[in-house]
Parts: sequence; structure tokens; C-alpha cells
Amino acid sequence: MNQPKNHILVIFGASGDLTYRKLVPAVFDLFDQGLLPEKFAILGLGRTDLGDTAFRDKMKEGIKQFALNKPDSEEKLNSYLEKLHYFSFDTKDPDEYCLLKGKLRELDEAYETEGNFIYYLATPPSMYEIIPAQLDEQGLSDESTGFKRLIVEKPFGYDLKTAQKLNKSLLTNFKEEQIYRIDHYLGKETVQNLLVTRFSNGIFEPLWNRNYIHHVEITGAENIGVGNRGGYYEGSGAMRDMIQNHLLLLVGLVAMEPPALIDSTNIRNEIAKVFHSLRPIQEKEVAQYAIRGQYIASNIKGKQVKGYREEEGVATDSRTETFAAIKLFIDNWRWADVPFYIRSGKMLPTRVTEIVIHFKATPHHLFADDESICKNYNQLVIRIQPDEGVLMKFGMKVPGAGFKVQNVNMDFHYSDLSETYLPSAYERLLLDCMLGDSTLYHRGDAVEAAWKFVDPILNAWKNDNSIPVHGYPAGTWGPDVSDDLIEQDDITWRYPCKNLANDGNYCEL
Ligand code: BG6
Repeated sequence: MNQPKNHILVIFGASGDLTYRKLVPAVFDLFDQGLLPEKFAILGLGRTDLGDTAFRDKMKEGIKQFALNKPDSEEKLNSYLEKLHYFSFDTKDPDEYCLLKGKLRELDEAYETEGNFIYYLATPPSMYEIIPAQLDEQGLSDESTGFKRLIVEKPFGYDLKTAQKLNKSLLTNFKEEQIYRIDHYLGKETVQNLLVTRFSNGIFEPLWNRNYIHHVEITGAENIGVGNRGGYYEGSGAMRDMIQNHLLLLVGLVAMEPPALIDSTNIRNEIAKVFHSLRPIQEKEVAQYAIRGQYIASNIKGKQVKGYREEEGVATDSRTETFAAIKLFIDNWRWADVPFYIRSGKMLPTRVTEIVIHFKATPHHLFADDESICKNYNQLVIRIQPDEGVLMKFGMKVPGAGFKVQNVNMDFHYSDLSETYLPSAYERLLLDCMLGDSTLYHRGDAVEAAWKFVDPILNAWKNDNSIPVHGYPAGTWGPDVSDDLIEQDDITWRYPCKNLANDGNYCEL
């Protein structure tokens, strides 16, 4: 495997949760597997006044709790922690960037990292235009000595207009090849496996189109509420938080054409083409194609849980959606008129992300005495998390007299592999950026196309109070009207369980 070039990872917003829970532990996992370059350092930046020692102590706790590879010795952990530095400065103050430049020069010389820097923006989005502009001002985006890469966390914009403005501003300071827009779903092993399942198997691809597929269902369910992120979530909601990015990305990977090559340009071209083919939903049609909901207080397994409006940082009359479901179409040759149903929500019965491909029924029901088999079309379930795997459902004869049919499962679980180390999404994505590979990062045009699709829905929800925000008791599968999106009587969403092979009302959650 290629080793990244020597470099410094500069994290803006280093005193925050993302750095503590995800970034520093993920880089530790890379270190543990010998995947970091020989000369490497992390420079954490933030306003909180921490020195190197306090920063290292805090990160040590984060690593112990969140790294996938738990440190097997104090010595190893300490040799990683020695690479961590902290510099306190006010990112909003342009005058302080020359101090940062001095600090970077000092570390660059000490570590011999040849001017190679990765900047990670783990700050509130209000800083996404300011920091790159100031780095550019100081000559810190210039690649004549060493690479300079910029990782931008989500949310990438608040709507189409702000995403366009952000893209434009970033592109005045950095080139597109230097910008890495992160969507941690692309870093998930099982999301990447979508490409392999589709394009390395002769059996699926010929069926992967409007002739054989009846509809596609994508679920991103969480069984937790907003916790202490109420303040952020109030301005976001499920549509901005999960659907505009993670779920549409899954739509892109399920629906894309085979790329000419597995590389950044070709894969990203195909994803962008899907987004450009999404049939626009006009503001006046929103009630017909999208449902929004909000969890209300309830009792789950004997435990009383709060409703969204009782959460910290949330307005008592909030209309922010914690559940959203959309019926969408992709207007191209492969998918014309095949409905895609996508839904995401907080405080649902279980945490599960999965894609269900519903194949069309046979043209003539020979065994139609068992009605349910005709309704339960063949399904291919691609489980992103948890119990990662793939499940095929098909009809089998019930042994004995006559021709009674029953639906059975054929399933593969990642956990059955002898080598099951699934790297964390951040680990994979950070390594890719270190190697200069942007395949699993979003390109600016695709992000804008995704916003263009969701903008009318968000506008309608904001401007038209007659579109209801349906309450759903925490711990249920969202508003029951979300079933109305699926017009056919005999079809519903799959109600998945923790275990891939189970579904329905009676299962372990
Ligand atoms: C984040 C959202 O992008 O994704 C969170 O901001 C959400 O609200 C999270 O909980 C879900 O990610 P995962 O990897 O747990 O499915």
C-alpha cells in the first residue's frame, strides 16, 4: 500500500467534539496500523486556551474511548501523543494568522514535513469562508512548496444559494483538486461495497433497471434523539442533516451508471449525473411527495422519553422535522418512473441504514393461492449498518402436498468473514486525503445539485404552514402517513430489525 507523504494535519476546531471523538482516534488507528508517514504531526487549533500537555491528556481519553484499535501499550499511545500539538488563537482575527504561519513553519522544520499541510475545518460552518481566505492571504494555500489540502466538514451550505456562495469563495482561495468535501457515509466500507456488489457481479447489473425493479427504498433510521445538539439541529432538521447529503449519496450510488474507471473523476461524474437527473419537486407539489414529522414524548420499554420540543436548545413551538420521507424519481433511461422512497428520522425503533431493491413480481402468478408471495416481491437488502451484509429474499416451495410458497432469506453477514476489521469512516477518508485521493469526497457541482433538489421542499416547509408537521411517538417508525407516500395498497416500507435477516413488528431492536 502507498504511504502518504510526510505532512502536518492542521485541525481547526480542535477543542470540539469531532476532534475528540472521531478525528484524533481515527488517526491513531492509522498510526496503529503503520499507515502514517514516517514524519507526521497534528496541530490542533482552537480558542480554548490549552497547551500541548492538556490537549494530549484530553485526546488520550478520546483515543481510549473511541479508537477502534484500543492502544495495547502506554508506550505506543505516548509515542502517538507526542506528535500532537496545540496552538491557541482566534480564528476570527485576521491578524493572528501570521502567528499561525510562524507556528506551522516551526513545526514543519522540526518534523521535516516539506511544507505538506492538510487543513481540516472542524469548526462551526460560519468559519468555512473566513479560514480558507486567511490561509490564502498568508500564502498557506500555495503548493509551490508542498501540498496544501482543505477538508470541509458538513453542513456544506444551508441551501443552494449558500452552497454556491461557499463553493465560489473556496475556489477563490484553493483549487478544486485541493478541496475535500467530506460526507462520512462515503467512508463506510458497506457504502463502498455498493459499487462492488453492483459492478463485480454479472447477476445483478442486467436486472438493475426499470424493466426489473419495481421500486427502491432507502432508510437511515436512528434510535437516539438530538441529545445536546438541539441548538444545531433546530437550524437543520432531518432534511439538511441526513437527506441532502447521506441519503442522496446512497441514491447516487444505487442509481449511477457503471463508471468507465474506478477513479475520482469517473465515479464523481456518475454520481453528479444522477443528482442532475432527479426530477424536481415543485413547491406546490411538496405535500404530495414529502412528509415531515417530529417525535413526541413517549414511553419506550417502560422508560419515559422526552419529545423533541422538550430537548435542550429546542423551541417549545419548534416545527423542525426530526423525520422526513420523500418519494422521488430519476428521469433517465435506466430509472424512468421507478419510485425511490427515502426516509430518515431520529427516535425511531432501531438504528439501521439499509437499501432495499424491490424487484417486480413475475408476470403471471402460477402459485397465486398464496397471495402474500405475490405482494412480497423479490427483495435485495443491502445493509449499511448495523449487522452489515446483504440479504436476498425469494419464494420457496413449502415442503409437502400442493404448491404453497413461502418467502425465504439468503443472507451474507460481514461478521462471518474471518477478517472483519471494518475501518471507521473517518479513518478511511483521512487516509485517502493524505494520499491525495478525492474519490470518496464530494465534488462541488454534485453538492449544489443535491441542494437544488431539496431546496423547494425546504422552502415549502418554511413558507406553507398548511403542510403539517406530524407528531410521532418516540420509538415508533415515524408518522403513519409516511405509508401514504407508497400509493399501492399491498406495499409498505420494510420495518427492519437490528438483525439483517429479520423484519416486521416482532423482532429484536
Ligand atoms: C451526521 C448527522 O452527519 O450523521 C447526525 O449530523 C447523525 O445527526 C449522524 O446522527 C449519523 O451517522 P451514522 O454514521 O451514525 O449513521
